[in-house]
Amino acid sequence: DWIVCLLLTLISLTVALDNGLLKIPPMGWMAWERFRCDVDCQDDPENCISEGLFRDMADRLAEDGWRELGYEYIIIDDCWMSRLRDEQEKLQPEPSRFPGGIAKLARYIHDRGLKLGIYADMGTHTCMGFPGTTLDKIEIDAQTFASWGVDYLKFDGCYSNPVEQMQGYPLMSKALNATGRPIVYSCSWPAYLGGLPPNVNYSLLGDICHLWRNYYDIQDSWDSVQGIIEWFSDNQDDLQPAAGPGRWNDPDMLIIGNFGLSVDQARSQMALWAIMAAPLIMSNDLRNLANSARAILQNKMIIAINQDPMGIQGRRLLQEKSQIEVYWRPLSHSASALVFLSRRTDMPYLYHTSLAKLNYDAGSYEAYEVFTSSTVTGLNATTVFTVSINPSGVVMWYLIPQQKPRQSDTLYDQHKKASQFMFHKAKPGHSTL
Ligand code: GLA
Repeated sequence: DWIVCLLLTLISLTVALDNGLLKIPPMGWMAWERFRCDVDCQDDPENCISEGLFRDMADRLAEDGWRELGYEYIIIDDCWMSRLRDEQEKLQPEPSRFPGGIAKLARYIHDRGLKLGIYADMGTHTCMGFPGTTLDKIEIDAQTFASWGVDYLKFDGCYSNPVEQMQGYPLMSKALNATGRPIVYSCSWPAYLGGLPPNVNYSLLGDICHLWRNYYDIQDSWDSVQGIIEWFSDNQDDLQPAAGPGRWNDPDMLIIGNFGLSVDQARSQMALWAIMAAPLIMSNDLRNLANSARAILQNKMIIAINQDPMGIQGRRLLQEKSQIEVYWRPLSHSASALVFLSRRTDMPYLYHTSLAKLNYDAGSYEAYEVFTSSTVTGLNATTVFTVSINPSGVVMWYLIPQQKPRQSDTLYDQHKKASQFMFHKAKPGHSTL
């Protein structure tokens, strides 16, 4: 056992991946949940995994206001590969579906001010059976991705065992660093080890990966979203401290805009992903998005909360007998976010509480309702207030302590200052990434 410990220490000392990437959680779009392994370009040309699909999504991100909000990574998932490596043992895309090759696609994406992510698997095969990256192939695959201009690697873990993973994940980190190209490294490793200590060593992960999948794949249903929220909250004592700038837990993609969530449930997913400081990586069809979904995904206040530069992951504070849950995340400059989630299935529930009951310091606060843009002012910590929470929905607040109002400083002025603060100061600084 001490040998393993020593090895882990050595590895973490030698392959620190502190290359300044992802000081705030990544935002973007990934193919998997919505488009899966659709390789049927004959009968389904619009939706099959092909260069056309990624160009379409790049166009949408660039032209429909997403990029300016921070959504910048376009990530290819499984099923892009040819069944065979080339003569030099390099991975290659399936030529019928990616006739231009990945380097050309990367150029297309970079030309639009976006970044490209790609998928590989530490093991003999990808989860869908395409060529895997065994230990002997790690270096060549890292080099190949860098030579194509890839900016982000999702490294899955199907078809390998924990001993191989223990070698392979740190090795890939090292190999990516050695390319000299800044490449975000997303590790699925913990998801293959049950996601919890002692099997998972989160401080090692934080040293070698920028983000990691902890838990099962998300599916297009509220059940799935709820199960993920529950698991992350039940295990928050282990997971929450692992996160911070450059190191993020990944509860998986946003499925907002697909088929499985009501508007309330979609708001709930967005709210909890902001509390969890989760990657905001959509998997939906940006060519066909309901306005209600777009409004949720493009909500500036909730994005600013997610992207808060302190990068402290939030926590579940309370689970009431009434099936109301309260979540909280501390934010820069003494601000904070609160989410009231209803797990009821009957009707809107009137929840009574006060900030003091939620551990807030004495004093006066202003609250902005994130989804309705309304304001609650002059809220004393001891004031009992009531929120009406829809079944499987949320009420989400952004809270700032109120400065003692000066003669000239009306509440309106303060509100304006606060929102300028939110939207200008706290805006993700993507140019610095
Ligand atoms: C695993 C991953 C998913 C997706 C599929 C692709 O299940 O967890 O996110 O990448 O493989 O096959």
